[in-house]
Amino acid sequence: MSRAELSVFIRALGVHAPDRKLTNTELSAMVETSDEWIKTRSGISERRIAGAGENPSDMGAKAAAKALARAGLTPADIDLVIVATMTPDVPFPSTACLLQAKLGLRRDIPCFDVSAACSGFVYALQVGTDMLRSGNYRRALVIGAEKLSSVVDWQDRATCVLFGDGAGAAILETTATPDVGVLGNQLGADGVNAELLHCVAGGSAQPASEQTLRDRQHFLRMNGKEVFKLAVRVMADSCERVLKGCGKHSDDVAWFIPHQANIRIVEAVAEQLQVGLDRFPINLDRYGNTSAASIPLALEEAWAAGRIKHGDLVLLVAFGAGLTWGATLLRWHEPTR
Ligand code: ACO
Repeated sequence: MSRAELSVFIRALGVHAPDRKLTNTELSAMVETSDEWIKTRSGISERRIAGAGENPSDMGAKAAAKALARAGLTPADIDLVIVATMTPDVPFPSTACLLQAKLGLRRDIPCFDVSAACSGFVYALQVGTDMLRSGNYRRALVIGAEKLSSVVDWQDRATCVLFGDGAGAAILETTATPDVGVLGNQLGADGVNAELLHCVAGGSAQPASEQTLRDRQHFLRMNGKEVFKLAVRVMADSCERVLKGCGKHSDDVAWFIPHQANIRIVEAVAEQLQVGLDRFPINLDRYGNTSAASIPLALEEAWAAGRIKHGDLVLLVAFGAGLTWGATLLRWHEPTR
């Protein structure tokens, strides 16, 4: 079989979310807000908050261990690790390398991070798929792991109510079965809009200093209104482009798994695509926006609940800081064992 004919599918999923729940009511004791405002504007009721020592590599390793157990695989079966995160444990080395050691994966495999903010999982999925299709690797761990609570300004009510922590892992595997797994994708970015959602300090341009700390420049800053408008446009457009590229129509898709940022964004995307909201599994009410972890968290939940069935067309769609966006069309494949 030629390498180009290999299909790449998600063999198993695993997730991990911290135990600590932070409710809207608790938040309203921290900043000037209310349960009613947060629910109405975003759809979020509570989010999970990681504790000290509960870092993206730890959460990602736990999610990956669950996926391995579900697949009946061991760490030795993994040939490649890609972690999507905008909140790496440390600036370097990569969270993927830290996770490799924690999970006891083979010590000779490639491990690296992908930085595409909330689109990170969709980006990493495509990078992993293409590397597997090269024929050089059999199985990849693709993980979205985030600790947004570490970059959120807990004095900024406009952003701190929106985000949460967690991780989701997918085991990608090659198969000779045609027309299953990843059927197509569409990725994009527009760096001109970088400042709509960014963190000013803590990188090489503005290393940490007393001044950056005083100015609270290590926290996420966002122009929510502009991000909202662009998100709806690029998510709908990305879905349409990937469907067209695969010769499919939105009516063919059983499940749309959107980045879980805001219920109003999801509603607007569904409306633009003229698709019922009942085909958009939602868990942002319980997790908030977990950035690169949000799609695997929602995908796993829909799969574990028995909603996603063998043969279903599933469309993942994300947008995030960058700005970045992307969509992946999958034909769900449950291998017979
Ligand atoms: N509680 C109460 N009032 C608030 C809060 C709060 N938590 N936050 C803001 N307000 C106030 C504002 O100060 C403003 O008051 P004003 O009218 O007196 O000036 C008022 O509420 C309205 O604020 P808006 O910003 O107009 O509210 P909007 O309806 O646009 O909703 C929101 C804000 C939820 C942020 C929305 O714009 C949004 O969801 N944007 C997209 C954000 C997003 O998805 N980001 C994730 C990107 S993915 C990634 O890469 C991380």
